[in-house]
Amino acid sequence: MSSKAGTWTETFNHPDRFIQGWHWALRSRDLKVGQVKPVQLLGRELAIYRNQDGQVVALDAYCPHMGAHLAEGKVDGTGIRCFFHNWKFDSQGHCVDVPCLGKMIPAKLSSWPAVEHYGLIWVWTGETPQQSLPFVPELEHTHCDVMFGSHFFKNCHPNVLLINAIDAQHFNTVHNFPIQIVFRTETLHRNAITFSNTTRGGDESWLMRLILPFYKNEGTYSMCYWYGSTGTVTLGPDFLHFYIMFTLRLLEGGKTEGQTVLITKKRPGLLGWLLNRLILFVTQLVGNYFAKGDTQVFQTIKFNLKTPTKADQSIVQFMQHVEQQQPLAWGTWEPTSELAQAPVTEKLQTNSGTQPEPERVWEAV
Ligand code: FES
Ligand SMILES: [Fe+2]
Repeated sequence: MSSKAGTWTETFNHPDRFIQGWHWALRSRDLKVGQVKPVQLLGRELAIYRNQDGQVVALDAYCPHMGAHLAEGKVDGTGIRCFFHNWKFDSQGHCVDVPCLGKMIPAKLSSWPAVEHYGLIWVWTGETPQQSLPFVPELEHTHCDVMFGSHFFKNCHPNVLLINAIDAQHFNTVHNFPIQIVFRTETLHRNAITFSNTTRGGDESWLMRLILPFYKNEGTYSMCYWYGSTGTVTLGPDFLHFYIMFTLRLLEGGKTEGQTVLITKKRPGLLGWLLNRLILFVTQLVGNYFAKGDTQVFQTIKFNLKTPTKADQSIVQFMQHVEQQQPLAWGTWEPTSELAQAPVTEKLQTNSGTQPEPERVWEAV
């Protein structure tokens, strides 16, 4: 849908816009103490290093002296030295040593808040974090074990890829679900919203009869969206929930790079560790089951929700949720507009397919 004329969205699916927030930069284990790595994140070149204290620091990449890339340099204590003329920068990006002058000078690089969670290094694309890191709602205060699933590229925008998890109709048409899926939404805050399946009943098929005892009484399927680009799925019967995170980022031209992270709560001892390997392996199978039917369509889709029906209600709600967040420009990370203070006022008219229902207008969530 993007910013093309005639559509009601200004941020959703826009090839040059993303939401200010926490975005995944690289895997923690790929950055050892004393290492520095070049990372292009949302169009901005960064040098990310792990200092001698084990802390991760994210700085703009290009040295303010002559433009050398700092990832060519060396970590020095808690700071980093440029390869070229050995200027040193601290973790805030201040120049603290110019060897040929024997002193510091008031040169500065932009530095970005960086933290680690679920085995990943996350960068806040602004000066000061306004909201929490993405997490699985049930595991907010729980220590977790993780395993990495696939690292992938898709030929569509992260916003578009993420709606797959709440595209109610496609669960029937693509994944052959025997029941109709209906979602309830819960807004955690401006940057996070949960869609939970509330569907119950239906016993017309053998598959439904088989899964109903679990499903009817104890089944959970919910998706929590963060910053329009990360989703955490909770899935399964109550005695064993599976957790899968899909964290995506926008590449040039409105494409997606993504990382799947399989998550479970930490269990004590060697037995707990072994059990978690098994649970994470099964989690991967569950994730693959849902991913496999959709792979091809996201390579060719030109998303444009021209004819939303009642069954697309969750998708529209997610689009509205994205519209209410602070958009930044790919590359500069500058705000593209002021943050809207009020909910989206524009309304989307919908039709309900062949049902001659009066035209319904959805309010913003
Ligand atoms: S270019 Fe970095 S110190 Fe000269
Ligand atoms: Fe799907």
